[in-house]
Amino acid sequence: MSKANESTLGGPFTFPGTSLTVRRVGYGAMQLAGPGVWGPPKNPEGAVAVLREAVAAGVNHIDTADFYGPHITNQIIRQALHPYPAGLVIVTKLGARRPADGSWQPAISPQELTDGVHDNLRNLSLDALDIVNYRAMGSIHGPKEGSIAEQVTALADLQKKGLIRHVGLSNVTSAQVAEAKSITDIVCVQNNYNLANRQDDALIEELAGQGIAYVPFFPLGGFTPLQSSTLSDVATRLGATPMQVALAWLLHRSPNILLIPGTSSVAHLRENLAAGQLSLTPQTLTELDGIGVDIRA
Ligand SMILES: NC(=O)c1ccc[n+]([C@@H]2O[C@H](COP(=O)([O-])OP(=O)(O)OC[C@H]3O[C@@H](n4cnc5c(N)ncnc54)[C@H](OP(=O)(O)O)[C@@H]3O)[C@@H](O)[C@H]2O)c1
Repeated sequence: MSKANESTLGGPFTFPGTSLTVRRVGYGAMQLAGPGVWGPPKNPEGAVAVLREAVAAGVNHIDTADFYGPHITNQIIRQALHPYPAGLVIVTKLGARRPADGSWQPAISPQELTDGVHDNLRNLSLDALDIVNYRAMGSIHGPKEGSIAEQVTALADLQKKGLIRHVGLSNVTSAQVAEAKSITDIVCVQNNYNLANRQDDALIEELAGQGIAYVPFFPLGGFTPLQSSTLSDVATRLGATPMQVALAWLLHRSPNILLIPGTSSVAHLRENLAAGQLSLTPQTLTELDGIGVDIRA
């Protein structure tokens, strides 16, 4: 991809209180593991190619977890990109483990969180992790209130030891963000949000006011890709794809939103990165906003 495209990946964002600046269009690596985020990919060379293409195109924000695979996704990242280019920010998350049956189980004791940091360091071949999100329980659909102080304190201790540079959160409520901030600085929040799932509208504004990044997971709908006649109509009118419009809408939604769309396909990756160049008029944004309103009604 040309330098011209590189500069259009949504522009820069600096995580608050850090020297880490990333382009707003990044990449989520979860789709690189095998089906069900389990085991090796069907096409290992393809997975490596996606990561190399992303970085060559200017992506410098990659989201991962050592429980994807498990371990496999991080090992593919290391194989494809190590030694890592200067400025690449790899964000990982802790809070789950995958037993042999492939299920997702909580791993939230201080010892499990510490082990998780060491798993990430080993599989990514790093001495310290740039940003680690504590992924709170609840469900894939949304967070559940409750104290996360024990887990955030464990991460803050690992930060003091130099194994973690910055702390983020995932699948959390506003009250949990406030609680975590009383323990250590929080640089990003990663929750389920997209054009059709607008539960975090208020939280996004709140975090924007504090300069904290909001990183929607399932930006394209995740395992149930976004489908809407309004989205398709807008895309046709703009000569873009529905997925590009969905991503562009997120970029327009708030300046603290960073994108980590997931794909195992180089063609989809190129399509997603090009969304950073798509400009939406206020009228089109209002039209797209209606999709979330329709679903809430
Ligand atoms: N914190 C959490 O709890 C949590 C949970 C889930 C995910 N995440 C993170 O968020 C990232 C993004 O979420 P996600 O990957 O689950 O969901 P997503 O980005 O909403 O959607 C990924 C799905 O869309 C497809 N896709 C991607 N680009 C496309 C395109 N241009 N056209 C058509 N289909 C396209 C992918 O299939 P193809 O492979 O065929 O392109 C895949 O099935 C993950 O990679 C992961 O890093 C975090």
